Amino acid sequence: MARVQTRFVCQSCGTVASKWAGQCEGCGEWNTLVEETPLSSGPSKTALGNARGRRIGLTDLAGHEPPPPRTHSGAAELDRVLGGGLVPGSAILVGGDPGIGKSTLLLQAAAAFARAGLSVVYVSGEEATAQVRMRARRLGLQEASVQLAAETNLRDILTTLEEQPPQLVIIDSIQTMWNDRVDSAPGSVAQVRSAAHELTVFAKKRGIAVVMVGHVTKEGQIAGPRVVEHMVDTVLYFEGERGHQFRILRSVKNRFGPTDEIGVFEMTGAGLSEVSNPSALFLSEGGEAAPGQVVFAGVEGTRPVLCEIQALVSPSPHSQPRRSTVGWDGGRLAMVLAVLEARCGLPFAGLDVYLNVAGGLRIGEPAADLAVAAALISAREDSALPPKCVVFGEISLSGALRPVGQTENRLKEAQKLGFTSAIAPSGGKASTDKGMRLMQMADLSGFVGEIFGAG
Ligand code: TYD
Ligand code: MG
Repeated sequence: MARVQTRFVCQSCGTVASKWAGQCEGCGEWNTLVEETPLSSGPSKTALGNARGRRIGLTDLAGHEPPPPRTHSGAAELDRVLGGGLVPGSAILVGGDPGIGKSTLLLQAAAAFARAGLSVVYVSGEEATAQVRMRARRLGLQEASVQLAAETNLRDILTTLEEQPPQLVIIDSIQTMWNDRVDSAPGSVAQVRSAAHELTVFAKKRGIAVVMVGHVTKEGQIAGPRVVEHMVDTVLYFEGERGHQFRILRSVKNRFGPTDEIGVFEMTGAGLSEVSNPSALFLSEGGEAAPGQVVFAGVEGTRPVLCEIQALVSPSPHSQPRRSTVGWDGGRLAMVLAVLEARCGLPFAGLDVYLNVAGGLRIGEPAADLAVAAALISAREDSALPPKCVVFGEISLSGALRPVGQTENRLKEAQKLGFTSAIAPSGGKASTDKGMRLMQMADLSGFVGEIFGAG
């Protein structure tokens, strides 16, 4: 019989090594390798001499598949992020920092789907039933017909669900689940992977939608949901800045709908409430043009979202000036600063630079480049942009402005919110309605010259 080989798995990135080492070869983290016995124990068919597999059926690509039936929760923000409602048999992972509001969101979602007619089971591995009940009472959901359990043993949970199959199961969280067939501690990569695998297989086999909560931790102490992203159909991240009351549910993978779709929620004492017009929320009141403030006309998924980008530039007392960003990528800021210096003759050496996206939104779109550059120049020159003006466009390293998608969508949203002009790269599709002035620029130095009269 084949000897069971042990292996060492990095708890941070999941890299497998045959020997123990102090540092992981994959991610460079220290003391993250843990000994594990592989998932499949017992001799395989091949070892018994039956080397040939079974013949599988092949079919054509063409064929008529009806669209999957979907259940709407009634919460538009949630339904949109799911791709237009919940698909039976789908496995969904909801990741996020601890304490960001995942349990609250999912308890509210459970109640909403129960109201929509689904039979729902909520399994908490982190809290006792009394705690979940208390939360439900605080959220005003104590009457919802959701079945509750506090359990961490995966085998017991699956057996129970097999006997009384519901239509939606919520597992909070995947890191607390524990499979007695896997010989390693709860929360380790092997346990998380096997639990997610079994739940996904269960979802497919029984046509039950399974939602798993996963904590994201930077320390690598607990295996992050990253290691199971490839298994599930849909990956949603629940994000937001700690001090802000806004929370964003973002789809980063969806086999049943578009990705990069966001749902915006506001945290209140009585739980999360939907924000159906996020643009109004990410703009500061008054809308007065001030130095260092620029309104970016962005697009999140299929929806245009306007938000304010704020920059502060001040002389630095340090030999290495500070570069600080909230809601935007620090590397991208360095690039924009370099282009401003090299192509427009606007150095930021000796200046501290702070960049902030208002409202706790996190922007990943390159289309924000020009808005960021505009905020930086405006702060540096202490001169405001024209009032009621939105900005968008990607900046290339040569200093040229590149057109971005959905120009029309962005302009329409800006006009709806009372903006009267827009600065965009030339070359994009540009048909403007009356009352909206579109200023198209070919490169960054032209933009600096025209808007700030400098460069
Ligand atoms: P919780 O849902 O427990 O976060 P997670 O499951 O991601 O760890 O929420 C964390 C805390 O925030 C909890 O004490 C409840 C509180 N909270 C509110 O008061 N209102 C809200 O709208 C949300 C989302 C959370
Ligand atoms: Mg929780």
